[in-house]
Amino acid sequence: MRAPDIAPGPPGYPLFGVLPEMWFDSRLKVHARHVGRFGDVIRYRFGPVEAHLLLHPDDVKYVLQENHVNYVKGRGTRRMRLFLGHGLLTSEGELWRRQRRLAQPAFHPKRVAALVDAMVGATDGMLTAWDARAAKDEPVDVAVEMMRLTLDVVGRTLFGADLADDASEVYDALTEALEFTSKRLVVPFAIPLRAPLPSNRRFLRARETLDRIVYSVIEQRRKSNARGGADLLAMLMDARDEETGEAMSDTQLRDEVMTLVLAGHETTANALAWTFLLLSREPIVWRALRAEVDAVLGGRRLVADDLPKLRYTRMVIEESMRLYPPAWMFGRMAIAEDTVRGYRIPPGSMVIISPYFTHRHPDFWTNPEGFDPERFAADAAAKRHKYAYLPFGGGPRICIGNGFALVEAQAILATITQRFRVDVTPREVVAEPIVTLRPKGGMPARLARVPYTHADKAAVVSA
Ligand code: HEM
Repeated sequence: MRAPDIAPGPPGYPLFGVLPEMWFDSRLKVHARHVGRFGDVIRYRFGPVEAHLLLHPDDVKYVLQENHVNYVKGRGTRRMRLFLGHGLLTSEGELWRRQRRLAQPAFHPKRVAALVDAMVGATDGMLTAWDARAAKDEPVDVAVEMMRLTLDVVGRTLFGADLADDASEVYDALTEALEFTSKRLVVPFAIPLRAPLPSNRRFLRARETLDRIVYSVIEQRRKSNARGGADLLAMLMDARDEETGEAMSDTQLRDEVMTLVLAGHETTANALAWTFLLLSREPIVWRALRAEVDAVLGGRRLVADDLPKLRYTRMVIEESMRLYPPAWMFGRMAIAEDTVRGYRIPPGSMVIISPYFTHRHPDFWTNPEGFDPERFAADAAAKRHKYAYLPFGGGPRICIGNGFALVEAQAILATITQRFRVDVTPREVVAEPIVTLRPKGGMPARLARVPYTHADKAAVVSA
């Protein structure tokens, strides 16, 4: 049998490989420079670390699904343990399996459908504030607004907690923690956290803030003794080990809540923010969206049964996540040596999966840069390679919240479209890849009220 080849890739600098490129440019830009030059497998050296970026859906499927047993979470995820601990996103093996089994029922489609009313309620609350701002022609940062809203939704629906007032603190602390984690990825050797550096101090302060908020959610539930309608928090708190009968330790509970609060709002918020940019650029798509919302809802409040009928709304979100997948890349580490597309993947080396680049693969997407929700019409989507589109990953570690996120984004987008035209003022917004793909400098927008909504009807009825 022929020995596997070494994959092609940029030679980079002696000792450091491509790391120096990443000190001056975002990781997204560095990859964009090399994608298209070397084929479907690109070999990088990040200092002492060897990595392969896999672009072809067959290879992505192989790593995430067919041979997933040979791949554990990568360096990025392990760095995130600094503030997420060992929750669902960052744990491995038996601990991960047990925690996933415990949390899974909370994400059953029927349970998610029961949360739609709370999602619409939270959106209505935000829109009431938008009414006042629109009346004064006051601009909003729609990225910040979405972050606050999705945090509110996750707090209410999964943890029975009111996190709306903590939104600014969570946003700042999370930004600090994500930036810190991201920067540690592009240095050859990470400096220990106890070293008295300003960046370490800022990170530890951010982690304390997040800890305080998460522990207070747990504490409030313990004190109130309420079961929160058997929400996710109740399920985690009630869980007992099959063998020992013991409850989850406080640290494990903290890690799970922290993971679900953070993973459960940041990504959806970014997806919605990018959607508003794309809709501002393409008025035809916005008009089609608005027509669907009018036809299905006819001005009344959205309920869970409307969602299957809001097909185009869903297609808009899916296409937006194709162009701007919030989890734009994630990694794995090979346990044993492997071969992908005839190239050698050494043990201990990294594999990079990037929805951002696979979603633009020219063999699977025509006019990859164009915004066209019709790509997600049922027949077109059915014909496509399943791993050509993977905003939520794939295989056993696929996002546990994918159904929740889609329902939430659909409910929020339809409810906003019913009442407002959100016009993002800069037509070009730079994507800033921290851990997720955030809009650099936010998403400044003007709000224009559009008529005929359930809120208007309620006002007319009560007048
Ligand atoms: C648009 C929104 C979202 C996107 C794009 C997204 C994306 C992803 C991706 C790509 C992964 C897999 C990472 C990997 O394989 O290394 C993941 C995992 C995960 N996501 Fe999401 N996510 C979203 C929303 C949510 C929500 C709403 C929740 C919870 C409420 C959530 C919780 C999680 C958790 C706990 C994991 C780890 C699952 C495991 O390893 O078992 N996510 N997400």
